[in-house]
Amino acid sequence: MKFRPLRLASVTDSTPAEPIAVPEEMRAVVFDAPGDADALRVTATPTPAPVLSEVLVRVIAAGVNPIDAKTRSGAGLSAAIEGYPSTLGFDFSGVVVTSPYETHPFPVGTEVFGMAAFPRSGGSYAEYVVAPTLSVARKPTSLSHVEAAGVPLAALTAWGLVVETAHAHEGQRILIHAGSGGVGHFAVQLAAYFGAHVTATGSGPNLGWLRELGASVVIDRLTTRFEDVVGEVDVVIDLVGNTHDTTGSRSIGVIRRGGLYVLVPTGSWPGYAEAAAAATVRATSYKVTPDGVVLATLARLLDSGAIRVFVDRVFPLSEAAAAHRELEQGHTRGKIVLSVAEA
Ligand SMILES: NC(=O)c1ccc[n+]([C@@H]2O[C@H](COP(=O)([O-])OP(=O)(O)OC[C@H]3O[C@@H](n4cnc5c(N)ncnc54)[C@H](OP(=O)(O)O)[C@@H]3O)[C@@H](O)[C@H]2O)c1
Repeated sequence: MKFRPLRLASVTDSTPAEPIAVPEEMRAVVFDAPGDADALRVTATPTPAPVLSEVLVRVIAAGVNPIDAKTRSGAGLSAAIEGYPSTLGFDFSGVVVTSPYETHPFPVGTEVFGMAAFPRSGGSYAEYVVAPTLSVARKPTSLSHVEAAGVPLAALTAWGLVVETAHAHEGQRILIHAGSGGVGHFAVQLAAYFGAHVTATGSGPNLGWLRELGASVVIDRLTTRFEDVVGEVDVVIDLVGNTHDTTGSRSIGVIRRGGLYVLVPTGSWPGYAEAAAAATVRATSYKVTPDGVVLATLARLLDSGAIRVFVDRVFPLSEAAAAHRELEQGHTRGKIVLSVAEA
């Protein structure tokens, strides 16, 4: 059998984009020591320089995640901070201004979204951010930068939970706690997309919205104990844990023998594995990994309308402290995003 040689585009087929000037200093939100939201301040700071495996991105919008607020307060990933002042933020959407080489898949001028080096440093609450090229994908064309910035960490987590860990499939019964938050609203949609029967917990006006996202059953966590009504499920994706109440412990009792419990706020219940083993339930924690290939898949799902991102509130970069205060209320529907620059 003969193989035809592949016709590869010649490198001369693509005209390198004009270089984009990058200022030596940029505006960024920093904090000087762990503290409450008031610890965040806007200042001028040196623009970061990428190494060869990274792109430098002009940030147009930056997503806000609970891990940012936890890290700011001295928990979360604060041990990874190498020095202060430090800039928070993993999610971004923007434009590549420095690329490793002319014909790189993300050349100068490409609209991208992705995650800054996670969990090492972050830095997307700023006008420029460096990101590993493997943590970046082309921005979904149908989304604004504000919408795209709400996607990466939360949607990658949801994909990791629903697709890679729970292997969502037709007929599988999945209970998702906190279905209306950043991770939850993607998890509900992805689980339903792959055919699972989704039950989600939430409260107030989010209940009707959870149905719109694809949940077959919604449970008002403020009026109903989920274990009284949910029956037996195959999988619990727990975005709450045991920090605020006993959501984690009570979840074990609703999972069938051999079913799966996934704890997402990983430090919230040190004894989860023993409790699950005693009930003959499999259990695991989960930690998100930036992945440009999965992000590109998510971009296709977003552009096709199979899933959507919901941005609850947008704050200017200068009001990052207000964004953190809002997030820490614990009632975000979908995502909170910082607007950094004009597209
Ligand atoms: N391990 C990892 O890799 C990883 C990755 C991402 C996130 N996380 C963690 O996962 C958790 C969720 O993240 P997120 O971004 O989705 O947070 P989020 O957007 O702040 O979640 C907000 C939602 O949580 C719901 N909620 C709050 N308390 C609840 C309770 N007791 N029961 C049910 N729902 C409750 C609220 O729903 P209602 O207002 O409708 O009640 C709200 O819509 C956080 O702790 C985060 O740090 C871990």
